[in-house]
Amino acid sequence: AIDPQFDDNREQVDTHKGHDVWGPVDEPEKLGIHGTHVAVDFDICIADGACVEDCPVDVFEWVDTPDHPESELKADPANESQCIDCMLCVDVCPVDAIDVDAG
Ligand code: SF4
Ligand code: F3S
Ligand code: ZN
Repeated sequence: AIDPQFDDNREQVDTHKGHDVWGPVDEPEKLGIHGTHVAVDFDICIADGACVEDCPVDVFEWVDTPDHPESELKADPANESQCIDCMLCVDVCPVDAIDVDAG
């Protein structure tokens, strides 16, 4: 499962489409965590898609991640600022790849 303390335990190494990327990143095998308020551990995501389908405000967009060992698509929190903290994505992800900091 994603480490809910990732922002203490990891370094921010990059940004992607306006959100933070938390390392380590070593493409294509290690992609790190994308997002901060809505954080998706790309190294855990298996592209199940439940988060993309169920988010009521369309926070997630698919991104291609060719040659990643778990899946070649990831749910990217491209619109994390629109999150309304409903926690649906956290509940439906079968591999617990998502952390939402509802504060
Ligand atoms: Fe979308 Fe709700 Fe998840 Fe926020 S908590 S990203 S609104 S499903
Ligand atoms: Fe990935 Fe979980 Fe969404 S596996 S696509 S983060 S439901
Ligand atoms: Zn991203």
